[in-house]
Amino acid sequence: MATKLTRRSFAKLTGSVPLTASATQVAAQTSSSKPADPSPDERARETEQKMTDDERFSLLISLMGAVAAVGVPRDKRIPEGVSMSAGYTPGVPRLGIPALQSSDASMGVTNPGYRPNDKGATAFPASIAVGASFNPQLAHEGGAAIGREARMRGFNIMLAGGINLTRDPRNGRNYEYYSEDPWVSAVFGAEAVNGIQSEGVISTLKHYVLNCNETNRHWLDAIIDPAALRESDLLAFQIAIERSQPGAIMSGYNKVNGTYASGNSHLLNDVLKGAWGYKGYAMSDWGAVPAWDYALSGLDQESGIQLDVMQWGAEAFTDRLRAAYARGKFPKERLSDMVRRILRSAYAIGIDRWGPAPTLDMAKHNEIALEISRQGIVLLKNDGVLPVATGGKLKIAVIGGHAQEGIICGTGSGAVLPVGGFAGVVKIGGPGIMGGGRNMFLIAPSPLAELTKLLPDAKFEFDPGYTPAEAALLARRSDLVIAFGIRVEGEGFDNADLSLPWGQDAVIDAVANTNPNTVVVLETGNPASMPWRGKVRAIVQAWYPGQAGSQAIAEVLTGTVNPSGRLPITFPLDLAQTPRPGLPGLGTPWGTPITIRYDEGAEVGYRWYAQKNQKPMYAFGHGLSYASFSYRELEVQGGETVTAAFIVTNTGARAGTDVPQVYLTAVNGDERLRLLGFGRIALQPNESKRVSVEADPRLLARFDGGAGRWRIAAGRYRVAVGRSAQDLALSADVQLSARLFGV
Ligand code: GLC
Repeated sequence: MATKLTRRSFAKLTGSVPLTASATQVAAQTSSSKPADPSPDERARETEQKMTDDERFSLLISLMGAVAAVGVPRDKRIPEGVSMSAGYTPGVPRLGIPALQSSDASMGVTNPGYRPNDKGATAFPASIAVGASFNPQLAHEGGAAIGREARMRGFNIMLAGGINLTRDPRNGRNYEYYSEDPWVSAVFGAEAVNGIQSEGVISTLKHYVLNCNETNRHWLDAIIDPAALRESDLLAFQIAIERSQPGAIMSGYNKVNGTYASGNSHLLNDVLKGAWGYKGYAMSDWGAVPAWDYALSGLDQESGIQLDVMQWGAEAFTDRLRAAYARGKFPKERLSDMVRRILRSAYAIGIDRWGPAPTLDMAKHNEIALEISRQGIVLLKNDGVLPVATGGKLKIAVIGGHAQEGIICGTGSGAVLPVGGFAGVVKIGGPGIMGGGRNMFLIAPSPLAELTKLLPDAKFEFDPGYTPAEAALLARRSDLVIAFGIRVEGEGFDNADLSLPWGQDAVIDAVANTNPNTVVVLETGNPASMPWRGKVRAIVQAWYPGQAGSQAIAEVLTGTVNPSGRLPITFPLDLAQTPRPGLPGLGTPWGTPITIRYDEGAEVGYRWYAQKNQKPMYAFGHGLSYASFSYRELEVQGGETVTAAFIVTNTGARAGTDVPQVYLTAVNGDERLRLLGFGRIALQPNESKRVSVEADPRLLARFDGGAGRWRIAAGRYRVAVGRSAQDLALSADVQLSARLFGV
């Protein structure tokens, strides 16, 4: 079963000192009577020494299962009877090494066509919704459930743990990531991995690193200042690795500062394995290995090797690597190191010693999905029209978003086929390898059905939002309008702008002009431009809310659930506010080399808007409640790091949950905005509780590239508590001494 976070560890999780490697290593429980069990490293060394070279090379690749959507036929090297999935690596039965079978991913066990007879898996909410819950325990529980559903299918690797920072609000894969903030990304990615691995299934963290746009991703060169990278995307990976010890890290498709991530020796050898001492293995993304010598740059396994043939014309770690080995260009020690890393992760997570398959409680998994959706929904705007009073005989118009059929999910390798299949699939298409799978997937039940359950006395009518004029006719004769805005986003694509597709903005504008009692519910993976924002009375960000999302949406709209979600990504007023109003390469033919300069460096998201004195549409950390909260008595202590303690009071008339955030706002008078941590606190009306947040000292520091260390400057650090990055309530100063530490 999933390890339940204790209150103390949960308190630590929401914002404080990282669990150091020593703290998380379970000391070998040894008694004087028997020798300690060999460590994973010792077992890996022992097994590897017994292997033949053929067996060693067999572990260095994975074969993608047959899937028509991507045009991959069955590879004869996958034995008959093996269940198809994202990756298959033959084991070494004589040495007790099981075959390695990997599946996607963060929202559940996917099946884009691998297994015609698979009845479907739990379709969990998008990772961005998990991040919006600001409840790491939910990431853990969701991960554990996914781990059980993977294990039940015999899959011992989950390609989950997407923690790229949501740097660009157009990035089609942001729904698969947690936040623009490195701390939130790390804490949630780590808990998802911990949940999965608690079930004896290896998880990845991905996509290492700076895979923050999808446009021409295989030919994208991501340029960034190396120290800034350490303070942002790499910091997310560093902290997440410390907190979860993922069995594998997956490198991304893109180049970083001119060198492909999968063959980037600085990132893989110097940073990941050198400075951080990572002991697991680095696998590539699927079709990301153009050359055998990536093995010399730190890559340990070539994934989905058929896609390298499609992308680069040849497999890398089969014949070509064998030939280099025969020529003495690929040393035996490196071959043994690659194998040992893979074996070590297998032993550390225990995929070689599975007991009986776990019993699956799919109703329980649905409850977890429901709770994530409930806590991830963000109430962006509400002038009091919400919650809709139950028991009333209102005439309610539900408009657009296929809300009579279901909710939507993201596309690409993360899309999960739910139990019973999709309620509808509408092809969208597009260029590149992912165009074939770019569809609008609808998951039942529908928001309309769930609203009808909770408002049985209301009179509902549905309009598809096919035209503004038609929708306005229904709006005109309704007491309340609930308009849905949806945008299908996913792998392989960046949105060209922040508008809603299919003319939805015009429809919402028309109904709001006709009936001011309009509430909008958004199902998107990213911010939307919302040109009608001033005309509607409430806006609910539901993200891709998973298979129980319709119920959660209805519960929030009717007040059965008091919304507690907060934005893990800033909603800008428009793209002009962002670091790159024009996205380089957007719209160029698939295959065009492009360069994106991430000149904002570590000033990602809320940090950027603060630095540029921009006021976004809705700030990072923003989210309304049907209650209200106040903060008082902030105490800040210094030392090796900063600890902030304060009291939260529910000043509202109903129970609710607040997510107070603690920020660094200035150092020696110079503005520098960094989230240091957050709390998540449930309070009854008039109830108060004390919250304490201890910052990871790296969030207070700058990375000194010359020294390869973190540097805290001496001086005055201003710390604030607030409801969002732009709504700070209390602040206090603390003195810190100069310090050089860590790596
Ligand atoms: C994809 C994705 C990666 C996924 C892998 C296997 O293209 O980039 O996230 O895990 O291939 O499907």
